[in-house]
Amino acid sequence: MRAARCGNPAQSPAGDRRGGPERSTSALPLGGIGFFWHGGAMSTIKPFLKWAGGKFRLLERILPELAGAGRYVEPFAGSAAVYLNTAAPEAVVNDVNADLIALYSHIQAEGEAFMAYAATFFTPKTNTEAAFYELRARFNAATAPRERAALLLYLNKHAYNGLIRYNARGGYNVPFGRYKAPQFPRDDMRRFWERTRQGHTVFTCRDFREVFAGVRAGDVVYCDPPYAPLSATANFTSYAGNVFGPKDQEELASLARRAYSQGATVVLSNHDTPQIRALYAGADILAFDVQRFISCKGQARGRAPELLAVYRAV
Ligand SMILES: C[S@@+](CC[C@H](N)C(=O)[O-])C[C@H]1O[C@@H](n2cnc3c(N)ncnc32)[C@H](O)[C@@H]1O
Repeated sequence: MRAARCGNPAQSPAGDRRGGPERSTSALPLGGIGFFWHGGAMSTIKPFLKWAGGKFRLLERILPELAGAGRYVEPFAGSAAVYLNTAAPEAVVNDVNADLIALYSHIQAEGEAFMAYAATFFTPKTNTEAAFYELRARFNAATAPRERAALLLYLNKHAYNGLIRYNARGGYNVPFGRYKAPQFPRDDMRRFWERTRQGHTVFTCRDFREVFAGVRAGDVVYCDPPYAPLSATANFTSYAGNVFGPKDQEELASLARRAYSQGATVVLSNHDTPQIRALYAGADILAFDVQRFISCKGQARGRAPELLAVYRAV
C-alpha cells in the first residue's frame, strides 16, 4: 500500500480512432437487450456521485456491448453509472471501497430514511473550510458504516473535484472544494434507489478476484478497473487506499479470459496502450478517444486514447 494519488479522469467520448484492427462503435446498432432505450434516444440515469473515471458520458459506447439476458456483474462499480443504466433483473454490484458499498446498501435498505439522514450534512453551515475539515476528521475517526456512508456523500460533494481518495493508512485526504452551494442529490439518489429495487441487486465489497470466482456461464460482466498509466510518469488513483498495479491488470485479463471460456460475456475498459492491447489480444477491440474532465494536473486534461475489450459469449 502507498499514498493515494490522482489519476483516472471522468470521461466523455471524443471520436473513434482509425487505423487499428479494431472496429468502430459508431457503426453499431444501439439498443441491445438489457438497457433503457426509448424512441431512438437513450434515456439515461445520472449517478448521484462524482467519480474519477466515471463512465456516464460513455454509456452509448459501453451499453450496446453489454447486450445479453444473463445476470449483470460489475466488479469495479465506482459511481455505478453503468449498472444504473442496465435493466438486468439480477445484478451483482461490487467495489473494494467499503464506504461506497455501505452508501449503496443503506440507500437500498432504507431509502428515504437514509436520504433524510445524509441530507443533514448539507447546510450552509457545513460548507465552510472549518466545517469541512471537522467533518473530514469525523469521517476518518468514524467506525459505524452508516455514518461513514453519509459522510462519504458529504465529502464527495464538498471536496476538491469531488475526489474520493485515501492515503496508505486509509485516511481520506482530499482538500476543501470551495463550491458555492453543494446540492444534496436527492432526485438522483431516488432514481438509484428505484433501480436497486427492480429485480434483485446484491452489493458486495470484495476484491475483483473474489467476484470473478462467482461468475458463471451466461453472466454479462463489465469491468472498469483503475487504468494502467498512459506513461511511466502518470499516476494511479487510489480509490480505496489500495494500489492497482501491472500484476492486477494481468490477473484481471486472465480472469476475463477464463470467465469467457466458461460461457460469460466480459467487457473491459482501459487506456489504449500496447501493453493493454497485448493483455487483451484475443478480444474484439473498440478504440476511441475520450475527453478528460477531472485531473489533478490541468495539463493532463484533454483527449486520451481508450479501448473496450469485448469477449462475447455466443
Ligand atoms: C475507474 S473506477 C470505476 C468507475 C465506474 N465505472 C463509474 O462509472 O463510476 C474503478 C473502481 O475500481 C475500484 N477498485 C480498485 N481496486 C479494486 C479491486 N482490487 N477490486 C475491486 N474494485 C476495485 C475503485 O474503488 C473504483 O471505484
